[in-house]
Amino acid sequence: MSYTVAITGKGGTGKTTIAGLFVTGLVAAGRAPVLAVDADPNSCLDAVLGVNAASTVGSVREEARDGSSSGALKGMARAEWIDLRIAESLVEADGFDLIAMGRPEGPGCYCYANNVLKDVLGRLASNYPYTVIDNEAGLENLSRRIVRSVDLLVLAGDPSRRGLETVKRLYGLAVDMKISYKKLAIIINRLRSDSTPPDLGPLKSEVPADFTVFLPDDAELAELAERGGSMWELSRGNRVAAAVDAFLPEVFS
Ligand SMILES: Nc1ncnc2c1ncn2[C@@H]1O[C@H](COP(=O)(O)OP(=O)(O)OP(=O)(O)O)[C@@H](O)[C@H]1O
Ligand SMILES: [Mg+2]
Repeated sequence: MSYTVAITGKGGTGKTTIAGLFVTGLVAAGRAPVLAVDADPNSCLDAVLGVNAASTVGSVREEARDGSSSGALKGMARAEWIDLRIAESLVEADGFDLIAMGRPEGPGCYCYANNVLKDVLGRLASNYPYTVIDNEAGLENLSRRIVRSVDLLVLAGDPSRRGLETVKRLYGLAVDMKISYKKLAIIINRLRSDSTPPDLGPLKSEVPADFTVFLPDDAELAELAERGGSMWELSRGNRVAAAVDAFLPEVFS
């Protein structure tokens, strides 16, 4: 069984960065292979991890839909065909593999392909001790139940008062949507060194998180993103990487 980490939060709070740091941190700690899932159609977890995902799960679903209506899949069982195409979409790299979900289902559910996809993804993930999912802002992916179970749900936020309010709101939504997870972590990202950490007391009284983590705002990380470098270029001695690396054993001990 794969230990699944799903990272969510408001737009721009650092979800993709945190996902990248989790993947590289797990690999650096010898917990490979990791399955990285890019579940944000507008995201670039692949670039952050220095690979390129040309084909996506969404495009396989579309092909299956078109193929089944034109009869192109005759001769090969559809489930088998989807299985094969998903295997082809998997980007294999050193210590981790990546799969991109692409666009979500449009109007008019192609339920057959969706169900097969869930099955294939479940089986795929079971080959890896760890799965890290970078989600789009909000909880859409998780509410679609594309992953069967989440072991650690990460709510990412910024240190502003509004940022903390958003974390609270997101948690309320997760409860309303009955999103199931085993452990909950709040990660407050981009804490400036000249500012005091916000008091999380009021937030923690309403959001029963198992872990709370602060990540510093870091010039090296910002510069890396500006020039489009990959997370592998960051030394584990970097302040943000070190904070993630200190957190991982807490979760996975
Ligand atoms: N701790 C940090 N220090 C410096 N820069 C950071 C830090 N965390 C994230 N960033 C930068 O902030 C920007 C937004 O981060 P990121 O893309 O990870 O957010 P996101 O939540 O995935 O955004 P989106 O909602 O658009 O997917 C990026 O340029 C990233 O490099
Ligand atoms: Mg992102």
